[in-house]
Amino acid sequence: MTPPPASPVRAAGFVSLVGAGPGDPDLLTRRALDRLARADLVLNDALVPADLLALAPRAHRFFVGKRAGRHSITQDGIHGLLVRAARRGQRVVRLKCGDPFVLGRGGEEALALTAAGVPFEIVPGVSSAIAAPALAGIPVTHRGLAAGFCVVSGHDPAAYAPLLDGLAPGAATLVVLMGVRTRAAIAAYLVARGWPATTPAALVLAASHPGQAAWTGTLADLGAATLADALAPGVLVIGAVVEVAARIAPALVPALATATATATAAAPPARAAADAS
Ligand SMILES: C[S@@+](CC[C@H](N)C(=O)[O-])C[C@H]1O[C@@H](n2cnc3c(N)ncnc32)[C@H](O)[C@@H]1O
Repeated sequence: MTPPPASPVRAAGFVSLVGAGPGDPDLLTRRALDRLARADLVLNDALVPADLLALAPRAHRFFVGKRAGRHSITQDGIHGLLVRAARRGQRVVRLKCGDPFVLGRGGEEALALTAAGVPFEIVPGVSSAIAAPALAGIPVTHRGLAAGFCVVSGHDPAAYAPLLDGLAPGAATLVVLMGVRTRAAIAAYLVARGWPATTPAALVLAASHPGQAAWTGTLADLGAATLADALAPGVLVIGAVVEVAARIAPALVPALATATATATAAAPPARAAADAS
């Protein structure tokens, strides 16, 4: 195997917008690990578990996520911290769960850094939009069932209505982030727009964490689904592909059961942050 190229991040005064993946350290990219190991400062969101932060032993850590539904700092405040730290010459990691550009406001941070003339990079991460279904045995696309998937934020009808209004019932698998609390409203919205109430639906909680749990049923009963952990982050998956999991999941070996020591210390997902950043 050819050795990886030397890291381009040698200079100080640099920001890495890093995707942390769904939580299990084994799902971090090698580039993310490298940036964490070199970081002077890590700014992290609520859904980033403590054992990922431990991978940045030299760094000062600063929590900038949502706690109990409240932002600990404004988005502009985060931009200011990133810019000032880079100008002080620090190597900064902005660590966001999943992928920084999937419903994570990473684009706004990239624009703020661009406007300030601060050099930065994007380190993509494994988004929960695909990791959560995959870890539950749900293929978001499947020949004959779904040729595509839509990812949408479920926290507010203003966020999901325009997309759902334009999506023909069953035309694609629907993946909803930040939709655990609003799942009843989302199911009702879809049924009112012609999606059959019998459409298969799943809710995957705390994907890749030791407490990972999945509920499966239909749109009709999604709203009343009993959750193993009401505070865990979760992803809704709606569409015919959900039924494929019944055939795949029984043979799936949970990664955490076979993982090596790197994953054994995995902390539970951040509390009070189910639909948070
Ligand atoms: C602000 S969004 C950020 C999404 C992130 N950028 C991504 O690509 O996964 C936070 C939402 O991601 C989802 N999420 C993040 N980590 C998760 C996990 N381990 N299991 C299930 N859902 C997760 C939940 O829907 C949560 O409310």
